[in-house]
Amino acid sequence: MKKIVVIGSINVDLVATCDRFPKAGETLFGKDFAIYFGGKGANQAVCAAKLGADVTMIGCVGDDDHGKSAIANLDKFNINTKEIIKTKSPTGVALITVADHDNQIIVISGANKEVSCDMINEKISVIDNADLVMLQLEIPLNTVKMIVDHCHKKKIKVILNPAPYNDIAKELIDKVDYMTPNKIELESMFNMDHKKALALYPNKLIMTAGSEGVYYHDDDSLINIPAQKVDVVDTTGAGDTFNGALAVALTSGKSLRESIIFGQKAASVAIGKMGAQTAMPYLNEIK
Ligand code: RIB
Repeated sequence: MKKIVVIGSINVDLVATCDRFPKAGETLFGKDFAIYFGGKGANQAVCAAKLGADVTMIGCVGDDDHGKSAIANLDKFNINTKEIIKTKSPTGVALITVADHDNQIIVISGANKEVSCDMINEKISVIDNADLVMLQLEIPLNTVKMIVDHCHKKKIKVILNPAPYNDIAKELIDKVDYMTPNKIELESMFNMDHKKALALYPNKLIMTAGSEGVYYHDDDSLINIPAQKVDVVDTTGAGDTFNGALAVALTSGKSLRESIIFGQKAASVAIGKMGAQTAMPYLNEIK
């Protein structure tokens, strides 16, 4: 089985569901509250593991109850958690509001900020054994850059999901194999029409666009893989589901087009349920 190594954030998500988003300065009654495991890194790791991949997670949690339960949760999905370090900083937390078929997220990074270049150097043999490395931008950017440089030198495949957006994505795009911004992230990155931007990086730049599906440019033209029609319950982690499933499909030898279709189908299942990891499909749920 191919090895996927995810290096990224591990959070606990505190999720309030409301009829609408509050305005600045406004107090609203919510409808529901739930606590889920999250973090873009952990979410992508769980998605890949639920779809049957051999996954190792590298990241940091606090030496606290959230950290213990976040690791236990990853263990439950048979993810290798031996490379996760417990730090003095508390486990990362995300405050999430779900309303209007969308979400708003505030991340308090905590221990995720401790994923340092020194820590990665100690884990370099794990990275060197990977068939594919998955990265997002919820850990320090100099660490992401160092990993991208290393993988580029060693010809290890990398998917970089540039979320939350930072301009470092522009600097790194030539060295990664796939970059997967959403529409807003792509606009921040290129400040031009998305068709033109995608044409600059054929078969590499893959834009997720919610209900419009996914866009990328192949060798010849712009391709749209339309989204399935589903009743949206919670879009949190839809992008993570796409990325996790994309990684699984690519490492199992599917073409880029087939892998994007697979990722898209997985994300469509995920948005029909509450939570990020809880909503991610197992293989038999993807039709
Ligand atoms: O992509 C969704 C994730 O973003 C949430 O799980 C939250 O923890 C934030 O990292």
